[in-house]
Amino acid sequence: MGLFKKKIKQEHKVMLQAERAAGALLPEYHRATPECPHPERWHMYDSMTAEAEVLEFLYTLVTTTKPELIVETGSFLGVSTLWIAKALKDNGFGKIISCEFDPVVFAKAKEKIDASGYSEWIELRNESSLEMHIEGTIDLFFSDSDLPIRESEVKRFLPQIRPTGLILMHDASSHLKTVRDAAFKMESEGLLSCIFLPTPRGLVVAQKKEGRA
Ligand SMILES: C[S@@+](CC[C@H](N)C(=O)[O-])C[C@H]1O[C@@H](n2cnc3c(N)ncnc32)[C@H](O)[C@@H]1O
Repeated sequence: MGLFKKKIKQEHKVMLQAERAAGALLPEYHRATPECPHPERWHMYDSMTAEAEVLEFLYTLVTTTKPELIVETGSFLGVSTLWIAKALKDNGFGKIISCEFDPVVFAKAKEKIDASGYSEWIELRNESSLEMHIEGTIDLFFSDSDLPIRESEVKRFLPQIRPTGLILMHDASSHLKTVRDAAFKMESEGLLSCIFLPTPRGLVVAQKKEGRA
């Protein structure tokens, strides 16, 4: 073995673990927080994909609010994308545009989506959320990429988000901190009105303040 073992990127490591786990559900193992003292009551497929219960919530949110255009940042293996696409199919209309900037992860997600039977509801893009261009008005924005860029991401797309639309920011627990702080900051700047759902990794459900009836 060489002295300098190549460091595997976290996303690639979790991708390999997810392949080995083959869809088995585990108890959530992110650490307990004051707002979520029993994370083990939730379930997860892997540490990158949103908690299983959050995936169910995404499905229900889409069937409840009937969005036409959904934008997701951070596809990873396409699991949340597919839950949302299933809801769009059940609604009978709409589209999700999801971006993943890592080309290796993107290729895996694409393979999975192509084989899923839901690809007509999904536009998967191999690009960064900070560079991609979206045409039209966004009804549901799901921010789930890299933690430090979430604020820029939300601010970048805010003008295109419908006032009655929803903004979701995943990984907003007090332990992960960065996204939670970004949501508090945007609230104090008068941009968003936020609810912090006490899930293991934290989920902000927000609306922009401007333009609300
Ligand atoms: C937490 S995972 C997404 C999980 C996925 N939404 C799910 O629940 O199934 C975050 C992903 O965002 C990707 N990513 C990080 N920065 C990005 C950016 N600027 N634009 C697009 N994707 C990004 C990472 O490569 C990683 O695959």
